[in-house]
Amino acid sequence: MCGIIGYTGHRPAVPVIMDGLRRLEYRGYDSAGLAFVEGRCLRVLRAEGKLAALDACLQGQECSLALFGIGHTRWATHGLPVVRNAHPHQDASGRFALVHNGIIENYAELKAELQAQGVSFVSDTDTEVLVQLLAREVTASGDVRQGIAAALSRVEGAYAFAFIDRESPGVVWAGRQASPLVLGVGVGEHFVASDIPAFLPFTRDVVFLDDGDVVEMRPDAWTVFDARTLAPRDKTVARISWDVQAAQKGGFKHFMLKEILEQPRVVRDAVAGRLRGSRVVLPELEGLARPERLVVVACGTSWHAGLWGRYLLESMAGIPTQVEVASEFRYGGFVVRPSDTVLVISQSGETADTLAALRMARQAGATVLGICNVVGSSIAREAQRVLYTQAGPEISVASTKAMTSQMLVLLLLALHWGEERLTVSQRETILHGLLALPEIVEASLPGLRHEAQKRARVYAAARGCFYLGRGPMYPLALEGALKLKEISYIHAEGYAAGEMKHGPIALVDPEFPTVAVCLRDELLPKMRSNLQEVAARGGRILAITNPGVEIPAADTWTVPEVPAPLGAFMVLPALQLFAYEVAVYLGCDVDQPRNLAKSVTVE
Ligand code: M6R
Repeated sequence: MCGIIGYTGHRPAVPVIMDGLRRLEYRGYDSAGLAFVEGRCLRVLRAEGKLAALDACLQGQECSLALFGIGHTRWATHGLPVVRNAHPHQDASGRFALVHNGIIENYAELKAELQAQGVSFVSDTDTEVLVQLLAREVTASGDVRQGIAAALSRVEGAYAFAFIDRESPGVVWAGRQASPLVLGVGVGEHFVASDIPAFLPFTRDVVFLDDGDVVEMRPDAWTVFDARTLAPRDKTVARISWDVQAAQKGGFKHFMLKEILEQPRVVRDAVAGRLRGSRVVLPELEGLARPERLVVVACGTSWHAGLWGRYLLESMAGIPTQVEVASEFRYGGFVVRPSDTVLVISQSGETADTLAALRMARQAGATVLGICNVVGSSIAREAQRVLYTQAGPEISVASTKAMTSQMLVLLLLALHWGEERLTVSQRETILHGLLALPEIVEASLPGLRHEAQKRARVYAAARGCFYLGRGPMYPLALEGALKLKEISYIHAEGYAAGEMKHGPIALVDPEFPTVAVCLRDELLPKMRSNLQEVAARGGRILAITNPGVEIPAADTWTVPEVPAPLGAFMVLPALQLFAYEVAVYLGCDVDQPRNLAKSVTVE
């Protein structure tokens, strides 16, 4: 949930670390800090709030001689987001400084043990326990590697850490267990970070670290060894093809806007190379039988994509499909059989609950498939097969283009597994529609944005908002509500429209508008009736619909009509732009909404 970075090389370390932290800030921005060694002096600088505060702290500081160091941007788990809890943390002697992402689950027990030995603590964090434990073990064994092994053998939970030692010039150690960490291999310099963009301006050569790996890096060498046995581990260097530009704003005010507007390209890329005439070809699934039963597991927006996919997987492919929130699946005691296929969906590929669900499914003997965006992420590596969504880096905390890309992969899966059930003409209608989609979306985006801007002024004063849909539009209603609440802080709830009268309708009044997704489909008459019930109680209605569809008493917002089930790809950008423009109108921090982080690597 936090971002960590380590550097050793020939450049001044502080600017390299600050630059990396800027690209990791999406992972958390409660506080930031860095540590480096100059001469024999270990210096730690920390600041509460966003990275700009740390930048301000650095003004006037002379630190150009430091050639190695570590940095951190925090999303608080243990302890308030204040300076004393900001990373890096140090041991009592001030010899070591450590940054950490994750949670040390047995920290209270370890802390009590250390306190009983006379160690005093200055923060409320689990991280300080880790650095104090490490210091104790290194001092006891007289060797840093031995000390790491001894300390990590005591630690339970999830972590990625990096640390430096005042007594070991030029060396950075880092390791991972269930939290992301990547090594960047340069010439005369090495990097370690939670995510590749942190060091992408300097190198494209990376090593994906695995659980239980510890890396020791110096300017001219790196070694990965097993955290418990200290045996060397073989690693392969991979080359990253995307560049920094792809991970940056490209002139847009916010990453979220840039990412929404990238969706035509996302549609093209998700489909590219996967169609042969009227067939969908997915080489990733070669040798796998069509699933008897599917269990889809994901969180947040990815879960909404899964809920949408269910309608297609059942109706087109005829596969019984269950969709679960990963955090419930983990502890729900649900039945997973070896004959089941479990499909995990995650943009980041690092979401802790989804990763844990994947591991449970593998343990149960099920076939595990992943739909992932981040290449080389934990979920991508641990799933038996992975279908990449090819959406490109998604930086904004609010997920947008990733959902489109996940829905596209789900649609391709439904067409692939449904090949025998669907007629050629049914498949052709969808595939032709799919090929035409990027242009239609592209052409409609400026108009959608304009409509969203107009409406933002009207609806931004709402006390709360309902989002309604039926059938495959119900998950979109859930997603519309999630987008609005996470970036504008307006309370919003998505409901299956038929559920309204079972309680929620009690909230309807003129200050509590309803956004209804009601395209021209077989459920439209039902939607109309539900909306009449809302209108009859004084509720204002914003209806996202197709040209020519009449929704009485509604503010209608039309999106181009495309063949089912592709209408979702027209509705989704409208919902995203609506939330975006409301948040901008209200002056909210769109890309970094409060209390959130992009990659949720804690339970
Ligand atoms: O990386 P993942 O797709 O696994 O992330 C899942 C959720 O954390 C994510 O979709 C979250 O709900 C977003 N903030 C939604 O915009």
